[in-house]
Amino acid sequence: MSPEFHSPVLVSEILQSLITGRDGLYLDATVGGGGHAAAILSGLSERGRLIGLDRDPAAIRVAAESLRRYGDRVTLRQGVFWQLGALLRDLNIREIDGILFDLGVSSHQIDDPDRGFSYRHDGPLDMRMGEGDRSAWHLVNTAPYQDLLRIFRDYGEERRAAPIARAICARREQGPILRTGELAALIRSIIPPDLPQKTLSRIFQAIRIEVNAEIEHLPEALRQAVEALGVGGRVGVMSYHSIEDRTVKTAFAEWVRGCICPPGFPVCRCGRQSTLKFIFGKRGIRPGPEEIERNPRARSAVLRVAEKI
Ligand SMILES: C[S@@+](CC[C@H](N)C(=O)[O-])C[C@H]1O[C@@H](n2cnc3c(N)ncnc32)[C@H](O)[C@@H]1O
Repeated sequence: MSPEFHSPVLVSEILQSLITGRDGLYLDATVGGGGHAAAILSGLSERGRLIGLDRDPAAIRVAAESLRRYGDRVTLRQGVFWQLGALLRDLNIREIDGILFDLGVSSHQIDDPDRGFSYRHDGPLDMRMGEGDRSAWHLVNTAPYQDLLRIFRDYGEERRAAPIARAICARREQGPILRTGELAALIRSIIPPDLPQKTLSRIFQAIRIEVNAEIEHLPEALRQAVEALGVGGRVGVMSYHSIEDRTVKTAFAEWVRGCICPPGFPVCRCGRQSTLKFIFGKRGIRPGPEEIERNPRARSAVLRVAEKI
């Protein structure tokens, strides 16, 4: 893999916590350029195998190249991780030893102006990670004001969601907003000059999350992952912003707790039992200062790992 494609984050922590057997079968549900996948494979024996999944055909092409040396110990598939259950059934696989989700976008996707993810480079307003038919262009130019407001608030946690949504609706009456540069300039024009960077990054993040349904299907993807694990198998999820992390934390906490009876009930009536236990405790693990200095994109990462019981 070219070093610019993506620098994998928390590699040794992932290896230590995810690999429970060197002969095992592992799924990298967001294989990207294959950085984590190569590290996992290097920690396995000659019998250990890995399935790599990604929704982006460009990522699958790069991963095929970077993992070529592992031959038929690697199976790569293009698809979305909320269909991982069906993928494993197609491959005739009944149990997995470990599953990794390294959420969000790769550096390669962000840095390619033609993909339209970044406010730093001018490019078409696209932001699709895979082959979906609705791009950022559709959202920005056709979503009603109320939808834009909700998306900027919920997925960007942006205080200025309302004036920005209003400005987009007013601007598009003069003609469609076609480029990331146009959208960035519009946002810059209505916020105080000392704030634009964070606001730009929050609004672009919010649009990207909506276009790719990143949060919407995450609980279902985690449910399928837990179902696919054998007892003692582990699932690790690395998130890069609080909305993603909250979704993961809430889903894991429910499976760890098991029982969903109200707190006042003297005995359990729901009959549900824990299916997971936390590894690294409830708080997860974050990169240290050295890793952040080496790779600034690691700064917001949090890794949560749980084991099926
Ligand atoms: C942070 S990168 C992963 C980088 C990878 N760990 C590596 O070491 O190169 C995230 C990857 O997940 C993919 N992705 C995001 N959402 C996905 C989904 N719902 N299903 C499958 N892949 C997804 C993206 O296309 C991207 O390649």
